[in-house]
Amino acid sequence: GPPNLYSFQDVDKDLAPNLRKYVLEQQNEALARHGVFRVAVSGGSLPKTLAKALLAPSNGSKDDTPEFSKWEVFYADERCVPLDHEDSNHNLVKQDLLDRIPQELGQPKVYPIDEQYLDDPKECADQYEKTLVSIFAARDSVKLPLFDLLLLGCGPDGHTCSLFPDHPLLREQDAWVLSISDSPKPPPKRITLSLPVVLHAAKIGFVATGGGKKDILKKIFETEQGGNLPSGLVNRGAGEKVSWFCDASATEGVNFP
Ligand code: 6PG
Repeated sequence: GPPNLYSFQDVDKDLAPNLRKYVLEQQNEALARHGVFRVAVSGGSLPKTLAKALLAPSNGSKDDTPEFSKWEVFYADERCVPLDHEDSNHNLVKQDLLDRIPQELGQPKVYPIDEQYLDDPKECADQYEKTLVSIFAARDSVKLPLFDLLLLGCGPDGHTCSLFPDHPLLREQDAWVLSISDSPKPPPKRITLSLPVVLHAAKIGFVATGGGKKDILKKIFETEQGGNLPSGLVNRGAGEKVSWFCDASATEGVNFP
């Protein structure tokens, strides 16, 4: 089936509570499946929106409780900068979300990149892949890691993770984690999950808010070429596993199929 599209009037009032519902649904299903919730997140504005969603008070019901101590948090992409650097996605997630989780909810187990390899993105990616291999089972026993949920942004150029339009990384079929040293958006050195890993995830949630997303959403949903942009490839390739959480300014004038 096709991707799920949700457009909300207001980020704080409607999008965040619905994103919460969605994430906790994935959490509850994952915990029922295997007792752990494995989620990979991106940077940009996502950590802030996610924090609004997850740090809101619970309605008290069992299925509305983030069980953070059973979460394993990974990065869908990361910049090769120190973990306390303002460009670090981990730093964003830590400041916006992790550091603010009330003690009684517990803390996720977090898997940031290894700061030893910041100068060598290829090595940094290989090491992060090794981490994934150690968590998701040996590479010879599984072809791809199975994330319970990926939470991604979509850049105005159509990039997602650090997979940029027309970049050769998009054609990588084998590696789980890739490096890029010429990112068109600074900083240039980054690592990213590969497209096959993204497409393999159980669920993929895109969060796209603000008027700056109008043109790219139009392109992705209304044009043929849009389907070849990185976020379009995910949208097409993963179909009903994909859900878009947008606000009204992002979807204004967009004709969804
Ligand atoms: C990056 C950013 C980027 C971001 C998108 C969407 O690494 O360059 O993290 O991938 O996620 O550009 O950003 P917004 O959600 O802030 O629009």
